[in-house]
Amino acid sequence: MIQLQNVNKVFTDTNHNNFQALKDISLAISPNECVLLHGSSGSGKTTLLHIIASLMKPSSGLVEVKGENIVSLSDYHASAYRRSTIGYVTQSFYLLDNLSVEENLLPALVLESLSEKEMAQKIKKALSLANIEHKAKQKVSTLSGGEKQRCIIARAIVNDAEIVLCDEPTANLDKKNSLFFLGLIQNLKNLRKTILIATHDPIFEKLECVDKVYNLEGGSLE
Ligand SMILES: Nc1ncnc2c1ncn2[C@@H]1O[C@H](COP(=O)(O)OP(=O)(O)O)[C@@H](O)[C@H]1O
Ligand SMILES: [Mg+2]
Repeated sequence: MIQLQNVNKVFTDTNHNNFQALKDISLAISPNECVLLHGSSGSGKTTLLHIIASLMKPSSGLVEVKGENIVSLSDYHASAYRRSTIGYVTQSFYLLDNLSVEENLLPALVLESLSEKEMAQKIKKALSLANIEHKAKQKVSTLSGGEKQRCIIARAIVNDAEIVLCDEPTANLDKKNSLFFLGLIQNLKNLRKTILIATHDPIFEKLECVDKVYNLEGGSLE
C-alpha cells in the first residue's frame, strides 16, 4: 500500500545551512495495517507524514502508494491524489471556526462532481462514524476540544480516503477524549482503512489493533 525506499529529506535554511530531517528511511505498510510511528519531538514524524501525503517532496528516494510513484506528481495531481486517497488528522484544529461542523466538511468534497444529495449523504456518514452527527449544525467555535477532534476525523474520512494519516492526534485531548479517539481508530481499522499514527503518547499502548511500531530518532528508523 505504502512503500518508502531510501527516503532522505534535507532542508536548507536562508543561510544555506543544510539540515537532514530524514535519513535513508525504508518502510512498507500493507493495506488495512495500523502502524504507529513513535519518536520524540523533532525526530521527523511530521516531515515523513507530509511526504506520504505528497504535501512535500523528498530530497531523494522512492515513495510508492498503491503502486504509484508519488514523488513525480505535479502539484495538480498531488492534490487530486490527496483528495482521493488521503485523510489527514492534524494535531491542531485547522477548522473554520465560524462555520458549522457539517460546513467544515464541504471543502473536502466540492471538487468532486457529486450531487448535493450525494454530498449530504457522505457528510452524514462521516459525521456518524466520528460520532459528531448530533452537532452537525453547531458552530465549530462552540465545540469542546474532543468534539473538534471528532470534526477533524469526520473531515479526514468524508472523501472515503483509504489511508488515514494522524499527526499527534491526541496532543490536545484530555484522557477521556484520547480514549474515545482510540475507539475511533478501531472503527477505521474495521472499515479496512490503512492507518499511520505519529505519536509519543503512551495511551496508544492500549490500542489493540496496532500491527506494527516504527521508532524514528534523529531522522532515522531504529
Ligand atoms: N521547513 C523546514 N525547514 C527547516 N527545518 C525544518 C523544516 N521542517 C522541519 N524542519 C526540521 O526538521 C526536524 C524534524 O521536524 P518534524 O518532522 O516536524 O519533527 P516531529 O514531527 O517529529 O516533531 C526538526 O528539527 C525541524 O526543525
Ligand atoms: Mg510533528
